[in-house]
Amino acid sequence: MLSKKIEQALNSQIIKEAHASNSYLSMASWCETQGLRGSASFFYAQSDEERQHMLKLVRYINETGGHALIQDIKEPKETYKSIKDVFELSLEQERGVTESINELVELTFSSKDYATFHFLQWYVEEQHEEESLFKSILDLINVAGTQEKNLLFLDKEIAGLRGKTE
Ligand code: FEO
Repeated sequence: MLSKKIEQALNSQIIKEAHASNSYLSMASWCETQGLRGSASFFYAQSDEERQHMLKLVRYINETGGHALIQDIKEPKETYKSIKDVFELSLEQERGVTESINELVELTFSSKDYATFHFLQWYVEEQHEEESLFKSILDLINVAGTQEKNLLFLDKEIAGLRGKTE
């Protein structure tokens, strides 16, 4: 049985995962309009993954005697300055999610809710992987540069990188 405090904290996390999913969908759409098809497919897949993170929380809350709430989320950004801008924003977003997962982990541990503490370990691992993926893409962008002549190469590499982490 979830305490009210933990139920509320998990419900707040649902909002963050839903926002991440929408934000990646917006990035996918923008990349597609720029002709960056590899990056677009990367972000479409990333958006699906974030939706799975959200659903996992919904199911867990409901299975544990709580009520998962589907609430409004703020609109994601619509346009970006460059592909580098998109990935910088993604990494920043992932770091924010990691911080929030860490706070949840701390709360469940101090509340002796070891079942939820255990459930959250999956998110801890996932955040580590995602931060590392986005950081490696930004490293690649920094090495290759974002001049027009390198964009096609970068776009193909980005599409390929996603497959390697799954
Ligand atoms: Fe589910 Fe990448 O936050």
